[in-house]
Amino acid sequence: MVRVAALLLAAGCLSCLAGPSSARCLRGSRGVAVAGRGPNRRVARQAPASPKYDAAFITQYLATTYERDASAACNHAITAEWEYITDLTNSTKEAIYNEASLSLAAFEKEQWDEYFQNLDPEEYEDPVVRRQVEFLLSLGVSALDEQELKDLNTYELRMQNVYSTAKICPYRKQRCDLGKEGYELDPEIESVMAKSRDYDELAYTWKAWHDASGKHMRQDYKNYVALQNKAAVANDFENMGHMWQAGFETDYFYEDMQDLWDQVFPLYEALHTFVRRRLRAFYGDKMGEEDGLIPAHILGNMWGQSWINVYDLVEPFPNASSYDVTKALMEQGYNPLRMFRKSDEFYTSMGLQSSNMSYGPKAVIEKPRGREIICHGSAWDFCDRKDFRIKMCTKVNQDDFRTIHHEMGHIQYYLQYKNQPYMLRSGANPGFHEAIGDTIALSVDNPKHLKAIGLLKNYEDSDESSINALMKMALEKVAFLPFGLLVDMWRWDVFAGNVTESEWNRHWWLLREDIQGLRAPVSRSEEDFDPGAKFHVPGSYQYISYFVADILQFQLYRALCIEAGEYRPDDPTSPPLHKCDFYNSKEAGAKFSKGMALGASVHWSEALETLTGETELNATALLEYFEPLHRFLREANGDLEAEASPVSEDDASSAATTATTTAATLALLLLSILNRYL
Ligand SMILES: *[C@@H]1O[C@H](CO)[C@@H](O)[C@H](O)[C@H]1NC(C)=O
Ligand SMILES: *[C@@H]1O[C@H](CO)[C@@H](O)[C@H](O)[C@H]1NC(C)=O
Ligand SMILES: *[C@@H]1O[C@H](CO)[C@@H](O)[C@H](O)[C@H]1NC(C)=O
Ligand SMILES: *[C@@H]1O[C@H](CO)[C@@H](O)[C@H](O)[C@H]1NC(C)=O
Ligand SMILES: *[C@@H]1O[C@H](CO)[C@@H](O)[C@H](O)[C@H]1NC(C)=O
Ligand SMILES: [Zn+2]
Repeated sequence: MVRVAALLLAAGCLSCLAGPSSARCLRGSRGVAVAGRGPNRRVARQAPASPKYDAAFITQYLATTYERDASAACNHAITAEWEYITDLTNSTKEAIYNEASLSLAAFEKEQWDEYFQNLDPEEYEDPVVRRQVEFLLSLGVSALDEQELKDLNTYELRMQNVYSTAKICPYRKQRCDLGKEGYELDPEIESVMAKSRDYDELAYTWKAWHDASGKHMRQDYKNYVALQNKAAVANDFENMGHMWQAGFETDYFYEDMQDLWDQVFPLYEALHTFVRRRLRAFYGDKMGEEDGLIPAHILGNMWGQSWINVYDLVEPFPNASSYDVTKALMEQGYNPLRMFRKSDEFYTSMGLQSSNMSYGPKAVIEKPRGREIICHGSAWDFCDRKDFRIKMCTKVNQDDFRTIHHEMGHIQYYLQYKNQPYMLRSGANPGFHEAIGDTIALSVDNPKHLKAIGLLKNYEDSDESSINALMKMALEKVAFLPFGLLVDMWRWDVFAGNVTESEWNRHWWLLREDIQGLRAPVSRSEEDFDPGAKFHVPGSYQYISYFVADILQFQLYRALCIEAGEYRPDDPTSPPLHKCDFYNSKEAGAKFSKGMALGASVHWSEALETLTGETELNATALLEYFEPLHRFLREANGDLEAEASPVSEDDASSAATTATTTAATLALLLLSILNRYL
């Protein structure tokens, strides 16, 4: 699974299948030694002993025995994991899964001990073999001893179980029989957060969820951090945050993320200001004193990571056309299977491969009855080059339609790189995996395309309707950016020990206020553990990938649009970027396929060059896409400021001053945190 944007992100997904010893995860944290002064370099290794086998032998071994045995061990572990994750309360399956993941770890450790630990990549001339050797030098969490691995598994599974089975009583019946009347996150709690406009009901639901989930995890998380760090140290990293970052193979990863955030910050701030004022117009004094922050529970989403569900409150031009895909899907009698087929059809229209096996009989595309399952959408690669599956509790609505495209992007990537060797069957970096399906979704979720496929009728294209459409997209993609950044900023600090356990929750809220501009709806303390109320924290999935993907997908989209002849950046008569649809473009498909097929066989900057001609992450394409909206927001925010004064004679000037000051304070806060981390 990989992310859902807000929506895609919200739904979230993981390309690295969970479990401490899952092969995917080990590869997600490839410990390539990086040169330079970056934060994620490995600490100096002791001079290695000379390797037991020569380069010719290892080259042959990797292509034959290792390829076969590693794929089989991975397949075995992933299958056991699937069985368990789709039937959480079956303790036999849990035991089988535990056993399988330990045996995969044992396999990897044996192989490393015997063949890989002392290899010298420099001895390998073929760059593709050299890369495999570099990845194989790192043992990942399999470096822990068996008891430690078992313990780590226990902590992770217990946290995931708490998360997946947490229930709360409904607002209107706060003492209830949880077993019979309790709400689960998906679908009831998420639905309340999305649809309720009752400030107190939202606050109650927000708090109840945090009480039922994260609050029970602190001790396990503490133990988890200690063991993760131990594994990182065994791999010559200072801590697990560094090891995660090393998966991006970039010397100055942290600084690069800061630079990208700097680049998009003015757009986020403009959106934040606009939305905050509209919410205040709706909720009034309920929102508390105007301090430039938005209460975290009124944005239509538990984590404030997607604001699409409050579109009705912030629609720029109520009289212009807007679009409601949910309604159209309902009216046309779509069911989950038909939504998947529709998505598959988009991919194949570009000449890409059909993913139909991924939503066939072995997959789970609707919430099963009678068993507990982790509903969070995910896309699985069973390591045998033919079995790929999606697990998703699909609902018929626009959000899930977009999430389907997202998950199908993972499957498409798996299919495209399936002929790479075992060690290189992975995304160019973890952000790439999250970006593929979202790139497609940008082309799908666009009035022009929706009209073409019959999901949009009576739509009148105008400047105003374009701003409405861009606002919808921004409520997903722009609103997500700070959250995408801060989850791992928090974890990096935790892994590094830069924040002590007694301040974990405080630190979380510091980041949420300073970066996201949101404040807790009710008072928080160190009795709480709010990061644990977000799936990826107990699930141990890296999160910065979604931030990277949020930016990267616009680079990819722009490049495919140019390839399809739908966008001409230097031509003033070109339609704007946000109107591009590369449906049916075999040219765009061929380009996409070429980049995806590389898998992890080259450094991501090379894959990016194949895909876009660029070699660096850059938010310029995102800003280009949202440019008309950004202009609208700047004007609207300015106008509103001018209008704000004549409200009440007495307070007018002081109110206006306060508003300005708080806006400035927020900007300062945001800047100060950046400096703190530079
Ligand atoms: C639990 O899983 C095992 C192994 O797949 C199966 O044999 C058993 O019937 C399952 N138990 C229940 C209660 O479903
Ligand atoms: C929208 O349309 C309504 C009814 O047609 C009209 O009263 C209103 O002034 C319009 N609003 C704007 C902002 O154009
Ligand atoms: C999936 O697609 C392949 C190739 O297009 C086709 O042969 C196969 O019958 C399809 N399978 C299903 C279950 O639709
Ligand atoms: C985090 O801790 C490390 C080592 O203790 C220190 O070098 C680094 O400056 C700290 N970073 C921040 C942002 O406080
Ligand atoms: C981003 O791209 C723009 C134009 O494509 C370029 O001018 C700018 O220098 C790039 N920024 C970075 C940090 O690479
Ligand atoms: Zn994903």
